[in-house]
Amino acid sequence: MRCRILLPTPHCDPAGGRDGAPILTLVTNDPLIRPAPEHVEERPRAAAARLLLGGPVVLVTSSYRGQANVMPLAWHMPVSVDPPMVAIAVEQSRHTAELIKHSQEFVLNFPTRPLLHHVQYLGSLHGDRVDKIDATQLETFGPMKATAPLLAACAAWVECAVVEVMPLGDHILFVALVSAVQVDPASFDDGWLLGPEETRPLHYLGGTRYSFLSRVVEARVPGVSDAPERVLRDRLAEELELTKDAREKREERLDALKREVEDGRALDISGLELEVSPESVLDLSRGHVIGEPPRP
Ligand SMILES: Cc1cc2nc3c(=O)[nH]c(=O)nc-3n(C[C@H](O)[C@H](O)[C@H](O)COP(=O)(O)O)c2cc1C
Repeated sequence: MRCRILLPTPHCDPAGGRDGAPILTLVTNDPLIRPAPEHVEERPRAAAARLLLGGPVVLVTSSYRGQANVMPLAWHMPVSVDPPMVAIAVEQSRHTAELIKHSQEFVLNFPTRPLLHHVQYLGSLHGDRVDKIDATQLETFGPMKATAPLLAACAAWVECAVVEVMPLGDHILFVALVSAVQVDPASFDDGWLLGPEETRPLHYLGGTRYSFLSRVVEARVPGVSDAPERVLRDRLAEELELTKDAREKREERLDALKREVEDGRALDISGLELEVSPESVLDLSRGHVIGEPPRP
């Protein structure tokens, strides 16, 4: 192990340890015993599932002996390209789990912004007590291969035939072959288009919080002849240079502002305490346009 130093550092707690002694920070090059950076916080293990959230939420429709049901689901993933396969994790007590176990099939319907409140609502009702499709008056259309209905207000539909049922902890993992895919081209071509908000998929963040993807950014791809280590090193250097540039520009702007304040061409308001109530922050009616006479 290569240890560098054992001294009070800027990371040490100024209040000291429990007995008031300074806390020493170990700086080492061994990644396994190197302490976590100060801003890092520990969370309960259940947070792992929340960290993995963010993919498009789906409405799973299922049907058995003429009874159809719908439930929102965030725990899903593709598991094979050839053949195309997906998996969903459904908690054991869900009515949907019963229906899928019997019918061995399900449909993933991808809701968009207009269905936001439906999604949350459908996640609070149980299909064994209420006919959710009927209660929410959601329009449906016929499947290509499955027997469960497809929800018309969605942007894409994936029909699935179950090939494996794996009880895991308190959930059941249904692994399925994709039997048909249909999309609304306003939302999806060979990827989500991120057009108007009402055409984008909903992303679930936990609790009652959802989000949309806001824009597409393209990553650069190294050429075949590029040595990966050199590309990574160069890209990192570029990023650092960009950060340095941005910092220098900000410092330049601050210097210019300081000079304007010194010359009396700008007012330094950093020392003033303004009383701003939360209600007045966005109330533009209280202000007046500079250069125009104040309102009476
Ligand atoms: C956005 C959202 C995502 C959800 N994701 C899942 C999930 O991945 N797996 C699961 O078992 N339950 C999930 N739930 C909870 C079920 O949708 C909920 O318990 C529903 O009422 C079950 O309906 P059912 O009993 O009619 O099948 C989610 C709920 C919401 C609102």
